[in-house]
Amino acid sequence: MNISLELNGRSATWDVEPGEALLDALRRHGVLSVKRGCDTASCGTCTVLLDGVPVPSCAVPAPRADGRAVTTVEGLPDEAARLGACLAAEGADQCGFCAPGLVVAVVAMSRELEDPDEAAINHYLAGNLCRCGGYVSQTRAIRRYLQEAR
Ligand code: FES
Ligand code: FES
Repeated sequence: MNISLELNGRSATWDVEPGEALLDALRRHGVLSVKRGCDTASCGTCTVLLDGVPVPSCAVPAPRADGRAVTTVEGLPDEAARLGACLAAEGADQCGFCAPGLVVAVVAMSRELEDPDEAAINHYLAGNLCRCGGYVSQTRAIRRYLQEAR
């Protein structure tokens, strides 16, 4: 079946299977920043924005993107660069596998929450796991990013 969507601000028409996950459709269409970690909506590495709302793309059927806007880290270049710089400055730049999903989730959080404290950040990002486990430095970097964005 064909679906029409807006991917990172550009119109696209894709042929997808009814049971195909949005994650698979994205990767099949070359959006390889969206990573498969768990495939069970548990790790957050596949997070994308669907009409501005963060969702685990492994758990969203691709047909649900029909007529909607999908944003991946490629659609957030300024935010990705700024958060990346903060992660590096705080020593939280490890393997980077979780980073594309983290950037998307942090951007969603910054739009949703006004001046979140550490507890609110950790609560919001509880679904974004990092196998390298640098959560303390990662949280510092996110706080720095939010402060610099003010
Ligand atoms: S791969 Fe989707 S949440 Fe882990
Ligand atoms: S930096 Fe390696 S998984 Fe997060």
